[in-house]
Amino acid sequence: MGNFKVKDHYYQKAKQENFLARSIYKLEEIDQKYKVLKAGMKVVDFGYYPGSWIQYTSRVIGDNGIVVGIDIQEVNKKLSGVKNVRVYQQSIFDVTDLTQLGVEDQFDVVLSDMAPSTTGIKTVDQARSLDLVESVFGVLPRFLRPGGNFVIKVFDSQSAQDYLKSQKNLFGEFHFLKPKSTRSVSKEFFVIGKNFKA
Ligand SMILES: C[S@@+](CC[C@H](N)C(=O)[O-])C[C@H]1O[C@@H](n2cnc3c(N)ncnc32)[C@H](O)[C@@H]1O
Repeated sequence: MGNFKVKDHYYQKAKQENFLARSIYKLEEIDQKYKVLKAGMKVVDFGYYPGSWIQYTSRVIGDNGIVVGIDIQEVNKKLSGVKNVRVYQQSIFDVTDLTQLGVEDQFDVVLSDMAPSTTGIKTVDQARSLDLVESVFGVLPRFLRPGGNFVIKVFDSQSAQDYLKSQKNLFGEFHFLKPKSTRSVSKEFFVIGKNFKA
């Protein structure tokens, strides 16, 4: 299947199913395969906007769970009415204390679909992306409870591979996945870490 067809298919599907973005199918595939989310969990979604990962998560965690979204973009009002969802406009790197997000304890799951602004220059974009990934690993202990689960988007490069290898022992399980709904030309893949050893 060509890339345009792939784009059309998932874009149309998301539209028909009332999801805010086609990225929903990436998280769905990750979760179906690796069982990252469960009913009742407390989840934080870094770079949630427009919010399809939040929509998916909100359904899986149900009424006893909570999902907190953070993004530098203006709050998406379409999500404000959802009972187990809270969204904040902020850089995740400006969150120094969890009480800023209305919670006291660390989260069961950290999701990050964040992407840096891109230039089109491959080496610059790869470096920016890896910087962002490293910064997220850096703040992880502040957000994720011991034993918790983690999903992060990464743009592939040799240095990204080397860096990830060095972080592998932070988790009981560590997996890489390129979801079917990711465009085949894209260099993005996802890292799934389970059972965080803080
Ligand atoms: C690909 S989009 C996320 C799509 C989302 N997962 C969905 O399903 O709708 C990436 C987001 O990361 C956000 N972002 C980038 N750097 C950030 C930061 N430092 N703090 C918070 N959000 C950030 C961007 O503003 C952008 O909205």
